[in-house]
Amino acid sequence: MPMCRRPRQFCKIFVFVFFEVLFSDATLWEYEVNFIQLLSIGTVKQMTQLHPDVYDREELLGVAVVGCGYWGPNLIRNFYENEQVQLVAVCDLDPKKLRKIGRRYPNVALETDFQAMLDNPALDAVVIATPVHTHYPLALKALQAGKHVLVEKPMAMNSQQCLELIELAQQKGLVLMVDHTFVYHGAVRRMKQELDSGNLGELLYFDSVRINLGLFQSDINVIWDLAPHDLSMMDYLIGKQPVSVHASGACHAGNGLEDIAYITIHFEDNIIAHFHVSWLSPVKARKILVGGTKKMMVYDDLESMEKLRIYDKGITVEQPQSDEERYASLVGYRIGDMMTPVLDLTEALKVEVAHFVDCALSGKTPLTDGKAGMRIVQILEATNEALRTGKPQTITQPEIVGVLSR
Ligand SMILES: NC(=O)c1ccc[n+]([C@@H]2O[C@H](COP(=O)([O-])OP(=O)(O)OC[C@H]3O[C@@H](n4cnc5c(N)ncnc54)[C@H](O)[C@@H]3O)[C@@H](O)[C@H]2O)c1
Repeated sequence: MPMCRRPRQFCKIFVFVFFEVLFSDATLWEYEVNFIQLLSIGTVKQMTQLHPDVYDREELLGVAVVGCGYWGPNLIRNFYENEQVQLVAVCDLDPKKLRKIGRRYPNVALETDFQAMLDNPALDAVVIATPVHTHYPLALKALQAGKHVLVEKPMAMNSQQCLELIELAQQKGLVLMVDHTFVYHGAVRRMKQELDSGNLGELLYFDSVRINLGLFQSDINVIWDLAPHDLSMMDYLIGKQPVSVHASGACHAGNGLEDIAYITIHFEDNIIAHFHVSWLSPVKARKILVGGTKKMMVYDDLESMEKLRIYDKGITVEQPQSDEERYASLVGYRIGDMMTPVLDLTEALKVEVAHFVDCALSGKTPLTDGKAGMRIVQILEATNEALRTGKPQTITQPEIVGVLSR
C-alpha cells in the first residue's frame, strides 16, 4: 500500500510510535519491527503472492482470527500450524496486541478494521475470539460476506441471535461452528464411547465443578463465562433435550453479575445434572463425574496423567418381597476395579481446528455446529430467568424443528 495514499493513517502511526518511543521500555530494534508492522495495520497483505511456490490456494483454507486477547493466541497458533490452512490475517482493535502477534508470526497480516479484512478475496473463514456481546455482529458480517465462521462460546447473547446466524449460514451454504473446546478433548471423546457402548449402563447423573479465582468478566456472569464448557460436554455426552433448569447465585463485586452459581438441570428418565461455577474460589477444580447403573467415570482435567478414571462401582437395589423387607435397607454396594484408559492426548483445540477446516473444505456439518451453540445459549437464557425469578424454568423444546433438531 503506498503510504502517500493514506496520509492520515501514516500521521497517526507516526504520532503513536513517537509516544511509544518516549514512554515505553522496548529496545530500538523492537521499534523498527513495530514500526514496519504498524505500517501494515489497516491493510491485508495478499499472502498468496508471498509464497506462490509453496502454497496452492485451491487446497488451502484462508483463515483470519479476530481477537487476540487471552484465548485468541491459542486459536492463532493452531490455525497457523494446520497444514491445510493459510493464516491470512489477525484482527484486533488493540494495535499493541497485534504487534505481539506480529512478532511471533511475521508473515501474517495485522488488521484493525474488521470490515476491510473481510474484503480480502484470499479469506475463506473467520474465527471470532472477541467478547461475547460482539460474537453476533461480527459473525453476521462474516457470514454476509460469504465466509465460514468458527465463533467462541457462548455463541451469542441470546437464542434469537443464534437462530439468525444458523439460518443465514444455511441459506448461504456456509459452515457455522461454535468453539466448544472440551467436546474435542480425548477424555471427553472416551467418555462418549463408554456411554454409547453401554458400559456405564443407564445414565443417572452428570455432576461438574469448575471453580478458581477467575477473571471477572465485564459483560457476562460466571455462568455465561464458565458453564458453557460443562453444558456443552453434557449436551454432547447425554445427547438429550433437558426439561428444566434451576439456578441460584450471588454477586460480590458490586457489578450485578453473579460470581458464584449453582445450576441444576433435570432430564426425562430421572437423569439429573448439576454445575458449580465460581470465580471466587481459592483453589482451582475442574472435575466432572458421570454416573451410570453399571459404572461411574471421573474426569479431572487438572490431573496430568490419569485424567479419566472409570470405576466399576455402584449400587444394587432389591425389590422388596415382603412387608418386613420393605422396612429393611435393600441397597447393596458393588465395589470393583478402577480403570484409567489410555487417552488421545492431542490438544483438544488442534483436533477442533482440524475438524473445522475439514468441514469448511468438504461441506460436512460440524459436531459443534450452530444448533449445538444455540442449545447451550437456550439453557443459559433459562438460567438468567431462574436467577431473576428464583424459580425453576422449563427449557423450551425447539420451535423450528427443521432448524434445531439434532
Ligand atoms: N474455548 C475456550 O476454552 C475459551 C477460553 C477462554 C475464552 N474463551 C472465549 O473467547 C472469547 C474471548 O475471550 P478472552 O478471554 O480472550 O477475552 P479478552 O478480553 O482477553 O480478548 C478479547 C480481544 O478481542 C478484542 N476485540 C474486542 N472487540 C473487537 C472487535 N470488534 N474487533 C476486533 N477485536 C476486538 C479485544 O481488543 C481483545 O484483545 C470469549 O468469547 C470467551 O468466552 C473461550
